[in-house]
Formats: sequence, C-alpha cells, structure tokens
Amino acid sequence: MNVLVVGCNGLLGQNLLRSQPAAGWTVRGIGIEAAPALPDLLTAYKSVDISKRTDLESAIAEWAPDWIFNSAAITDVDLCERDPALAALINRDTVGWMAAAGKPMVHISTDYVFDGESGPYAEDDGVNPLSVYGTTKLESEELVLSASPKSLIARTMTLWGRGKGAKTSFVDFVRDSLKAGKTVKIVTDQYGNPTLAEDLALGIWKLVGNSRHGIYHVVGSEWNSRFEWAQGIADHYGLDKGLIQSCLTADLKQAARRPLKSGLRIDKLVRDTGFRPRDVAGQILRVDSAA
Ligand SMILES: NC(=O)c1ccc[n+]([C@@H]2O[C@H](COP(=O)([O-])OP(=O)(O)OC[C@H]3O[C@@H](n4cnc5c(N)ncnc54)[C@H](OP(=O)(O)O)[C@@H]3O)[C@@H](O)[C@H]2O)c1
Repeated sequence: MNVLVVGCNGLLGQNLLRSQPAAGWTVRGIGIEAAPALPDLLTAYKSVDISKRTDLESAIAEWAPDWIFNSAAITDVDLCERDPALAALINRDTVGWMAAAGKPMVHISTDYVFDGESGPYAEDDGVNPLSVYGTTKLESEELVLSASPKSLIARTMTLWGRGKGAKTSFVDFVRDSLKAGKTVKIVTDQYGNPTLAEDLALGIWKLVGNSRHGIYHVVGSEWNSRFEWAQGIADHYGLDKGLIQSCLTADLKQAARRPLKSGLRIDKLVRDTGFRPRDVAGQILRVDSAA
C-alpha cells in the first residue's frame, strides 16, 4: 500500500514516519520545507505549500496514493482566532481538496470540537466548538467522512514529544524551568489527556491495520489538569514543586477560548485495537530513553 503523509515534517508527521510498519507500506511525504526532516524514512519527498491547490492536486495525482494521511495544520489556536481566513484555508479547505481525490484518508482532529463543559468525551458525544480552530477542524472532519466511508478521523489533544525542529514541549519547558530555579505559572482549570506523539502515530497505524474507519479518540491514558501534569513532571525528575504557581485560563487573556473540562475517552480505541497509549510517567520514560 502506498501512503502519502501530508505535513511529514511536523511533530506527528515525523512520528508517523518513525513508527511505520516494517513491511507492506511505501511512504511518501509532502512538507512545506525545502528538504524533509527524516529523508531516510521516506521513499520520496516533495516540497509543497498545500494552500496552492494545483500543486497539492498534482502531487497527489502523480503519486496516486492508496491512502492520504494528513498531519498538516495550523495548530496555533490563537493565530487561528486572529486569522480565521488562514485557519479556514489550511485547516478546512486544503482537507477538502485532499478528500476530493477520492482516496481514504487519515485526518487528525482535536478535542477543541467540544466545549469543555463535561469532558472527558466519547466519540459520539455532542460537539460544540468554542473557537475558530475547533470550528474549522470540525468542518474538516465532515468533509473527510462525507468523501470516503473508509476514512479515519483521529481526534487527539496536548501532543508532545521529540522531533527535529519541533517546538519546546510542555514537559521540557517545565523541567528546564524548574531545574534553573525559575517559577512557572500553570493553569489549574484546563483538563485533558497529555498525549505522546509517538503513541498517536502507533494508534493510527494500528487502526488502519485493523481496517477501522470513522471517528476514534487517540490520546494518552491519563486525564489530569495542566497543573497536575506539571506537578507530575516535577515529581518524575525530583524537582521543586513549590516553583509551580497556579493561575486560571482567564488570567492569560488568550485570543481563543479553550474547552476547560475537556479530555477524550479511549475505550473505543482500546476495545478495537488492544492498544492503550501510555500515561504521563510512561511517556516521559519513553522520550528520555530514546534521547
Ligand atoms: N499539537 C497538538 O497539541 C494537537 C492537539 C490536537 C490536534 N492536533 C492535530 O494534530 C495534527 C498534527 O499536529 P502537530 O502537533 O504534529 O503539528 P505541527 O508539528 O505544527 O505540524 C503541522 C505541519 O503542517 C505544516 N504546514 C502548515 N501549513 C502548511 C502548508 N501551507 N503547506 C504544507 N505544510 C504546512 C507545518 O509546517 P511548518 O511548521 O513549516 O509551518 C508542520 O510541519 C494537526 O492536525 C493538529 O491540528 C494537534
């Protein structure tokens, strides 16, 4: 089977390449960068700005993939709020163009499709996005599922991990700040599931390998507040928890509203694949052992 990974240089994109099955798949990639982050893990690479529809469509036509995995997105939710046209273009319209190729897709969505009144959420709970990011992602889900019944939507949240050129992760930020004796202010009112990008990638390959389609939640197995996550990181590294100060989301005056009591249930993923993503301690152990 041939798969085209769109956004192959991003955090999830790199993890999809690293966790690709040993046999049976040919993996090609598209990224906006001139050169791929992980050339050895790709059969071919093209630099494509996916907002240029004809460039995207000709890459898909040339390679004729059996599957399109889309991990490209604008993930800065405050940027999406300030620039809704950009959010709509990248997070919705480009997804519609990919779906129109008529191939089954794996597309990544988010807990931001929910309003955070009553998480953690199951796949069939009612959606009600609070932000431009959440709205465009929900619209992209609908485009993908209406184009091909074989497509898979993997909803995830608070991704972290290592990747070439990746942003500093929350875990690294908290650990490095506390190690340097600096205080950090962390919100106590945002709840969810910290998720290792590698586990999301493994979950996706397992779902595809098991011919699953529709919506699946793929997140870490621990549900906590951001503040509790930071405390867990301090505990793990034996650092001073007294340096972690609490604050509320409203104090941050961010452009995009966040779903507060969020989080995603993974019962369906575990039932259908037998795969249970790691908890926070397991994630840190995994990342540190691979470093
Ligand atoms: N990160 C999270 O916490 C989180 C939470 C929930 C859902 N998700 C979803 O998970 C998926 C993967 O996220 P991620 O964390 O891996 O994001 P990421 O590291 O930011 O990767 C996204 C990739 O998309 C690329 N991209 C953006 N605009 C492009 C364009 N016009 N043409 C070609 N490529 C373009 C980016 O390139 P540049 O970096 O060079 O711009 C980047 O490589 C996304 O669908 C995201 O919405 C993420």
